[in-house]
Order: sequence, then structure tokens, then C-alpha cells
Amino acid sequence: MRVLIGGGSGFVGRELTHLLRRKGHDVTIISRQPGPGKITWSELESDGLPPCEATVNLAGENLMNPLRWWNENYKKDLFSSRIDTTTSLAQAIAASPSPPQAWVLVTGVACYRPSLTARYSEESEWTPFDLLSRLVKEWEEAGSLPVTVAQKTRQVIIRPGAVLGRDGGAMKQMMTPFWLGLGGTLGSGRQPFPWIHVSDLAGIITHAIENSSSTLPSAVPQVFNGVAPATNTNYEFTKELGRVLRRPTVFPVPGFVIDALMGSERAVVLTQGQMVEPKRTLESGFQYKYPDLSSALKEIVDR
Ligand SMILES: NC(=O)c1ccc[n+]([C@@H]2O[C@H](COP(=O)([O-])OP(=O)(O)OC[C@H]3O[C@@H](n4cnc5c(N)ncnc54)[C@H](OP(=O)(O)O)[C@@H]3O)[C@@H](O)[C@H]2O)c1
Repeated sequence: MRVLIGGGSGFVGRELTHLLRRKGHDVTIISRQPGPGKITWSELESDGLPPCEATVNLAGENLMNPLRWWNENYKKDLFSSRIDTTTSLAQAIAASPSPPQAWVLVTGVACYRPSLTARYSEESEWTPFDLLSRLVKEWEEAGSLPVTVAQKTRQVIIRPGAVLGRDGGAMKQMMTPFWLGLGGTLGSGRQPFPWIHVSDLAGIITHAIENSSSTLPSAVPQVFNGVAPATNTNYEFTKELGRVLRRPTVFPVPGFVIDALMGSERAVVLTQGQMVEPKRTLESGFQYKYPDLSSALKEIVDR
């Protein structure tokens, strides 16, 4: 298959590209920068969708960019980098004389309201309640295809939790303090911590692409929660990371400090959390390589 990946140069995109190429698929990346194996967003807009059987969007300004202060400009970039790229791809698919079989949009679990007790599956109802859930709503709406196109192209939405891997995401920033023995729980530590190993997220995206001919396209996107089947709290994550690194984790960071450093609207992803189940992902027959924290963290730390 020929697969076109918006934002394919990033943390998840590199893993996905690697997996797809290993399985014999052709990958083209859409990027802000030209280069071999890439087209730019302006080329997509001027020349239309290149021939492909599957299209994925992973583009977006990093929510945890340590180099950027939390302010209105940053929030605007978080929205526009996701919504504009998703709109461009949805419009290019709609205008294509031979649209792809699958259109996979990767968003996030921030649509589910944080809770210590509620359990969410792909079937859970939700309405936006804060900045990040509004972002998910607008982002997913931007990806929606016109009904006539949705009869030919299967629409898939994957909502990942924190993506764990050595070369990016949250782990990259956490490894140094934990190595130095300065790791600790965040806030109360009782909040759920939905997570997935990057290799499993790449696997779920690939599974959705490769199985597109077995499910009929529909006007309503098929949603898959991109989380591990194990549900863990921040305390469990902290203790397990300390255990595999053989480092103490005795320095809890109070919630108000994280709010002050990161901005409370963004800090919710660390200080609060949702118990998210990958019900439909499991029902679809996807087999996880790293279903529990211990195997996922061991792979990342031992590599
Ligand atoms: N990592 C996680 O823990 C996590 C968790 C939940 C959801 N997600 C979502 O999954 C997707 C992929 O995550 P990731 O960690 O792979 O992302 P990433 O590495 O931070 O970024 C992916 C790509 O987005 C493009 N990009 C960055 N800033 C942009 C901007 N301002 N405008 C347009 N494009 C921009 C970049 O490509 P170019 O430089 O080539 O243009 C970058 O390589 C994102 O949408 C993210 O929100 C990630």
C-alpha cells in the first residue's frame, strides 16, 4: 500500500514509518520542510492528494514543548497546527478522483473528563468541558469527510494516552530526573495515567490501515482508544519506572507546582487523568506487544 503521513517525521511517525516499510508498504511524509520521501503542506494544497491507499495525520505542535511558555500564542498554535493540517488532508481526500481506502486521524484521550472512578471506552458519550477537550472536538470535526466521500473512504479516529518510548514524548523529559533519583509522583498520584507504548500505537494505526477492506466505510468514524489494556495510576507508573531504573522515587511534586510551571490548562494531562479502556481496539483483534507497564518500561529502559 502507499501510505501518506502528515507529521510523519515526528516521534510516533518515525515508529510508524519504520513499521510500515518493514511490512513492505510505501511511505510519503507531509512536512513543513521539503526533503526526500516528503511533500510539503503547500504542495498538498496546490497539487492535491498524491495517489495513496491510506492517509494518516500525526501533525501538531508538541503539547509538552519545553521550549515554549504556556500563553495565548502557544494555545493558538496547538489548535491551528492540528486543525489546519487535518482540514487540508480531509479537503484533499474529498477532492481526489481516487480517494484512499482509509483515513486515520490520531487525536487524544483528553476528550474524556478526568475522574478517579469513571471508566471510558470508545462508546462513552462526551462533550467538551475544558481547553484540551475542545481541541479534540474541533480536531475530530475538521477530519470529517462529506457523506459521499465517506462511502468510499473508511474514517478512523485513534485516541492515544501518553505515548511511551525512548526517543520522544513524555519519557524523553522524564528519564533524566528519574535517573538522577529525583523522580516522584505528580500531584496526589492517585489520578489514572492512560498510556501506550509507541510501538503498539504504530501497530494499531497499521492494523486500522491494513484491515480497511474488512469494514464498510460509514459516515461516522470508527474510534479506537490507543491505550494499553492495563489501567494504571500515576503512583503505579512512578513506582514501576523507579523499579526498572533501580532508582528511588521519593520526591513527590505537588500539583500547584506543576500548574505554575506548565499552566493549569495543560498540566491536567499530568495532575489529572482518565481510566480509558481499549474495548474496540481489543475487539478488532489487535495484539499488544506491551500490554502492561512492566514490559513497556523494561523495553524502553533496556534498549
Ligand atoms: N506523544 C504523545 O504522548 C501523544 C499523546 C496523545 C496524542 N498524541 C498526538 O499524536 C500525534 C503525534 O504525536 P508525536 O508525539 O509524534 O508528535 P510530534 O513528534 O511532537 O510532532 C509530529 C509532527 O508534527 C509536525 N509539527 C510540529 N509542529 C507543527 C506545527 N506548528 N505546524 C504543523 N506541523 C507541526 C512536525 O513535522 P514537520 O516538522 O516535519 O512539519 C512533527 O514531526 C500528535 O497529533 C499528538 O497530539 C501524542
